[in-house]
Amino acid sequence: MPVVAYVDGEFFTDISQAKVSIEDRGYQFGDGVYEVIRSYDGKLFGTQEHMARLDRSLKEIELDLPPGMDIDAVTAVAREALARSTFASALIYIQVSRGTVPRDHSIPEESRSTLVVTVRPFTPATQEVWETGLAAITLPDQRWLRCDIKTVNLLANVLAITKARRMGFQEAILIREGVGVTECSRNNLFIVKDGLCLTAPRSNWILTGITRNFVLRLLAENNIPYEETFFDKGALLAADEVFLTGTGNEVMPITKIDEQLINEGQPGPLTRRIAELFREFVQKSI
Ligand SMILES: Cc1ncc(COP(=O)(O)O)c(C=O)c1O
Repeated sequence: MPVVAYVDGEFFTDISQAKVSIEDRGYQFGDGVYEVIRSYDGKLFGTQEHMARLDRSLKEIELDLPPGMDIDAVTAVAREALARSTFASALIYIQVSRGTVPRDHSIPEESRSTLVVTVRPFTPATQEVWETGLAAITLPDQRWLRCDIKTVNLLANVLAITKARRMGFQEAILIREGVGVTECSRNNLFIVKDGLCLTAPRSNWILTGITRNFVLRLLAENNIPYEETFFDKGALLAADEVFLTGTGNEVMPITKIDEQLINEGQPGPLTRRIAELFREFVQKSI
């Protein structure tokens, strides 16, 4: 089945035909922002939340949508791309960059933003993988000071996940000097200690995940105690349970960190419950 791509008003079924200029500022400066939305049963999940975050990211870097487009128009493109793909389970990637202008660092007075959307089939982790949980390595958080903006500048994340994988781990847990454990290279992070869930607070140090926010809402609704606070590596390694959250992974246990097993290498009971609550929530929402 073809991957669907969209570039500035045109849909493509052959992704190699979908092209952007070498002078696009997204390519030259990483001057752009993005979103990734998941579809379940052919329906987008969390659209409003993802689009609100895209809108915020755009505003934070003073980037306009292409002329004549607003957030609703971008949502319509994402929906149409998904419908054209015919994929039931897909990841919809949406990127806005500052367009094609002769290379100069400062934001140009005038430019026409580039909107790119791709839809790729997505196979979620199997139950067997979930039951095994992921192994994560701790690494220094080397990102910039505005991790709250979902920009296409992902070099520090790229280097972290690459290092993790080369060492045989599936995720990197990032630790910011003087701050504490922030999140993972591509997911947010939660720990559980004595029945209390902890996750880093909404701040410039993390990308505030849509999945994270839904999980916090579910914790509140189900009277599961939680705190949004930074914690250090000692607390991470001493946790009863650790799990990550993200659009693709939903709620996924981490059962090994560095060389240490968490909960004897098994998904913990609270992780199991929260994952179940999240799956029910998705089914109710789509
Ligand atoms: C650095 C980082 N943190 C967290 C997340 C999880 O966010 P979401 O739940 O919105 O997918 C992502 C997702 O791409 C990410 O890149």
